[in-house]
Amino acid sequence: MKNILFVCLGNICRSPAAEGVFLNMIQKNGRSGEFFVDSAGTNGLHDGEPADSRMIKQAKKRNINLPSISRKIQLKDLEKFDYIICMDKRNVENVKKLDIHSFYSNKIFLFLDFVPGKKNNDVPDPYYGSETDFDHVLDLVNEASIHFLKYIDQHE
Ligand code: 4NP
Repeated sequence: MKNILFVCLGNICRSPAAEGVFLNMIQKNGRSGEFFVDSAGTNGLHDGEPADSRMIKQAKKRNINLPSISRKIQLKDLEKFDYIICMDKRNVENVKKLDIHSFYSNKIFLFLDFVPGKKNNDVPDPYYGSETDFDHVLDLVNEASIHFLKYIDQHE
């Protein structure tokens, strides 16, 4: 069983989308039993809230359910989860700040680093954007999930 945590800033847009897309993908592949999947945010501003209704709406069009309830990442998450998958470089920095002794740095990844040709790219924050921006996030996290699954299979 691999524990996977998707992380963004508010845990209402990008990481809930990544969580939902990844859950949908492993379910379609008959691999749900292999993973525990969750998401969290670095700022805690939306604690207890479901995913942003605009993201829920765009995901629904793809038959993808977003089960996330927002919560702030905690130090103990770094111990529990095998892969801490951050949506942007600022999230990586903030997660690394929690990890003051750099004990868990080999578990912390930038999501698009798994995608050939997209190394060092961020999944852009759609919060102040349009429907197209929310859709673009879903496209990116879908592409990254495919490559992330391949990475897991090659490294486990
Ligand atoms: P997310 O988007 O990090 O993709 O969930 C955001 C949503 C809300 C805020 C920031 C980012 N906020 O600070 O309110």
